[in-house]
Amino acid sequence: MLIKYLTLKNFRNYAEETFRFGEELTVLTGANAQGKTNAAEAVFFLCTGYSPRAGKDRLVIRNGCETAEIEGVAESSYGGVSVKIIFDKNDGKKVYINGCETARIGELMGNINSVFFNPAELKLVQDSPEDRRRFMNISLSQMSKNYFYSLQKYNRILFQRNNLLKDRDLSLVKDTLFVWDGQLCKAAATVIRQRNAFLSEIAPIAKEKHLYLSDGKETLEMRSESGYSGTEKEIEDNFARDLKDGFERDLRLGYTAIGPHRDDIKFILNGDDARIFGSQGQQRTVALSLKLAEAEIFKNRSGEYPVLILDDVLSELDKSRQKRLIDATHGIQTIFTATGISPAAFRGRKYAHIAIEKGKIKKTVVRGV
Ligand SMILES: Nc1ncnc2c1ncn2[C@@H]1O[C@H](COP(=O)(O)OP(=O)(O)OP(=O)(O)O)[C@@H](O)[C@H]1O
Ligand SMILES: [Mg+2]
Repeated sequence: MLIKYLTLKNFRNYAEETFRFGEELTVLTGANAQGKTNAAEAVFFLCTGYSPRAGKDRLVIRNGCETAEIEGVAESSYGGVSVKIIFDKNDGKKVYINGCETARIGELMGNINSVFFNPAELKLVQDSPEDRRRFMNISLSQMSKNYFYSLQKYNRILFQRNNLLKDRDLSLVKDTLFVWDGQLCKAAATVIRQRNAFLSEIAPIAKEKHLYLSDGKETLEMRSESGYSGTEKEIEDNFARDLKDGFERDLRLGYTAIGPHRDDIKFILNGDDARIFGSQGQQRTVALSLKLAEAEIFKNRSGEYPVLILDDVLSELDKSRQKRLIDATHGIQTIFTATGISPAAFRGRKYAHIAIEKGKIKKTVVRGV
């Protein structure tokens, strides 16, 4: 997967700029607040239709403008694809693939795959289970449209079920819940089975990446906390049983207490929970290993590496982990952002250096061998 170019129009602090990325490495440099993360965000938007940052889409529209635009062309072994996303203050977001407007954002998933990492992704290890579910959701949605639509369906029915649980009319609750639960269990089973498969695929690869980045010092293990396994049918049946058994509890709580919306992943580093005992550097390495492993899974499943976006990670790693990280990106189109370049870390590699200042590209230079 190769993004050939990316044009931004009135996107965040950019008026109009075109980025030409390196085939493998690109480094975007600039002082703080010049637009590096904005450009990294735009690449991820182009790939997924979503921002890697939290917040409303319309915030990307440049202050004082009515619309913003991202346009790019990518190439894979299946051919070229052009993607355009238009953000309109009043009209929302529209996505065009090869010139045709898509009816659903989900259509964009899987065209240009992407893995994004920035320091905020540390929350993947540190913070709430919601961040870990978000990681699985973004990753799996790009890999499988079926997952994306099943998850949407699950969330929609769950929302309705939770509303119903707050209803005071008990006979209405009992009758209607029966109808919702059949559909809920089907959607849940698809989501859980695909998450299980994803976790058993990613765990050994993340372990290997972590071992490499930490120079053989740290062993990473991942554990799923979902509690359901087996075929989709088995998961559906077991989940349906638990949902039925938990009816009184859910009614008392006023929400659904079990299901994929409560899943979690545990990261164990050298035998201890990384969330509790890991240092910042170790936790960062766990999150990075996970992202590198995610890139490998994309490759295993689609035959192509995704575009890897590593925003502001180099400065946070020691020299050895920096060099190892850069080495681990061989064969992957990778976009780094940093306030400056440490040439030693990139020794032996060819890279495009794009310098950014106040939302403008100051220069693009190809460096290295
Ligand atoms: N919609 C918008 N319109 C205009 N400017 C915006 C908009 N959204 C964000 N900005 C500005 O973009 C600037 C650059 O942000 P960005 O996060 O890309 O900086 P950065 O180069 O990554 O800096 P750092 O090194 O601190 O991470 C910020 O100062 C912010 O005010
Ligand atoms: Mg930044």
